[in-house]
Amino acid sequence: MAKKNFNRDPVPKANKGPYGYEKMFEIVMELDKSSDITDTLEIGCGGAGFVEFMRENGFNSYGIDIDESELDGDGMRKGYLIHLNGGALAHHFKDKKFDLILANSVMSYEATRVGMAHRYGLESEKVPESLRTGITGQVADFNTRAILESSLNQLRPKGYFVSVNNEWAYHGPETGTITEELAENIGYKTILFNPTDIVLQKP
Ligand SMILES: C[S@@+](CC[C@H](N)C(=O)[O-])C[C@H]1O[C@@H](n2cnc3c(N)ncnc32)[C@H](O)[C@@H]1O
Repeated sequence: MAKKNFNRDPVPKANKGPYGYEKMFEIVMELDKSSDITDTLEIGCGGAGFVEFMRENGFNSYGIDIDESELDGDGMRKGYLIHLNGGALAHHFKDKKFDLILANSVMSYEATRVGMAHRYGLESEKVPESLRTGITGQVADFNTRAILESSLNQLRPKGYFVSVNNEWAYHGPETGTITEELAENIGYKTILFNPTDIVLQKP
């Protein structure tokens, strides 16, 4: 394994959401000071700019997305980008454990609305408001819980779950994002709750 070495600014690699990339970078660097972080997984990695950045910096990083069209074919052939639902990680990863699982702007009504728009070929602004607060709200709540539960199972003891949301994705604590209560009910310990920048730990 190459020596971990953050030698490059992650932002130029970002195809969207620079806030999330910068924030994840900052949090990973901070956690890496006190914990051995090598194996990482990004849920809802989209174009996978951050997964590539992590790999270039010596981490054994994987990325998954439920939307296959987002994923680069070369990364898929090499096996580090996988078309997979973050709520069903064991389906692919079996007993593999990660030191860190990340998500950038994946868990919120807004992120789910955009995801749905993508999936059904709609312009996101044409998705009716009722979908965001009604059906999409329930889907986002379900998605958030499923990702948190599945990730807990895939983390090593003392492993971390990091979720950041950029400003268009986050619209308050009741809009499909992680709440401290939900995370703790599932079994995580809260390390940081900002609430747009969240660090949880498996006990
Ligand atoms: C708003 S985009 C953010 C993409 C990327 N993280 C970024 O910041 O550029 C949300 C992404 O999460 C993915 N996603 C949502 N729920 C998911 C799930 N349960 N499993 C895997 N991917 C999921 C969507 O397909 C979409 O690519």
